[in-house]
Amino acid sequence: MSVLVTGGAGFIGSHIAAALHRSGKTVVILDDLSGGQWRNIPAGTTFVRGSIVDVALVNQLFTDHHFTVVYHLAAYAAEGLSPFIRRFNYTNNLVGSINLINAAINHGTRRFVFTSSIAVYGPGQTPMTEALTPQPIDPYGIAKLAVEQDLQAAFAQFGLEYAIFRPHNVYGEGQHIADPYRNVVGIFMRCVLEGRPLPIFGDGSQTRAFSYIDDVAPVIVRAGFEDVARNEIFNVGADSVVSVRDLATEICRLFDVPCRIETLPPRHEVVDAFSSHERVRSAFNLGEPRSLADGLARMAAWVKQTGVPTPTEAQAIEVTRGLPPSWAQSR
Ligand SMILES: NC(=O)c1ccc[n+]([C@@H]2O[C@H](COP(=O)([O-])OP(=O)(O)OC[C@H]3O[C@@H](n4cnc5c(N)ncnc54)[C@H](O)[C@@H]3O)[C@@H](O)[C@H]2O)c1
Repeated sequence: MSVLVTGGAGFIGSHIAAALHRSGKTVVILDDLSGGQWRNIPAGTTFVRGSIVDVALVNQLFTDHHFTVVYHLAAYAAEGLSPFIRRFNYTNNLVGSINLINAAINHGTRRFVFTSSIAVYGPGQTPMTEALTPQPIDPYGIAKLAVEQDLQAAFAQFGLEYAIFRPHNVYGEGQHIADPYRNVVGIFMRCVLEGRPLPIFGDGSQTRAFSYIDDVAPVIVRAGFEDVARNEIFNVGADSVVSVRDLATEICRLFDVPCRIETLPPRHEVVDAFSSHERVRSAFNLGEPRSLADGLARMAAWVKQTGVPTPTEAQAIEVTRGLPPSWAQSR
């Protein structure tokens, strides 16, 4: 059985591709390496370097491999930057997704597994439950929601099954820690390794529930094949909430360095983000998620071993008004 994993050289996608390969599936990865890394690509998979925006390439892949299941993770996922790269965001994350959905319909793919995001909920809707009406406040969340809705329409008209996940703040081994625009856990660990202060937007009281990769990737893998996931939407991840400032303190403790903070002006973001996982736990019979201390310790051990990778390339900014100065500098 042949499965496609887009974004399979990235963080979550590489864990998914590896698990699928271990379970005996023929795995094809499509990734343009804009955020992914060679070292993430699991041995035994077929890797195609290219973009989901390339319609001819996407169609050719489906013609060649007749994918039964598509796991679509490719995206430019810097939510905070998305208001400043609106055209790129919609081209890459929305139109690119539609290219895959078109091909999946045309080639009779059975199920399309999509990693959306809790960004679809927007602010002031905590705990975020799947029953809420999504109200995204930025182009990243809007694109994710549009893809969710297109998948629902595609099932209704063409019978393409879907399984949609809304993860949040995932961290762990394999994450790109040298992306200046996202992955606060990785950014903090990189700063510690480089002896720099840890940058925090605002006073650091904003809260997030950081989710360890092993509490996220395995359930997404199962969703390609299990009935409980058919045409369902699930939040996925950890429950325990921590402030960004406390996260910084914990990471400095793990690396045994004094905690120096660089306070940046607040940015346009959801202040408190945490979601309910009752649905996913009961559907997939999941246990308790890993504790933050344990998950961070595992990632820190991996980071100490692997070091800082080559930074991702700076994005071409489309809207400069209101761009956080620290991001303007990193261009
Ligand atoms: N990490 C999180 O906390 C989180 C939270 C919610 C949702 N998600 C979603 O999960 C998915 C994976 O996220 P991740 O954290 O592993 O990010 P990642 O950047 O590590 O992985 C994304 C991969 O997609 C690839 N990619 C980007 N644009 C592409 C294109 N046009 N064509 C082909 N490949 C392309 C990148 O090279 C990268 O390897 C994304 O869709 C993201 O929006 C992640």
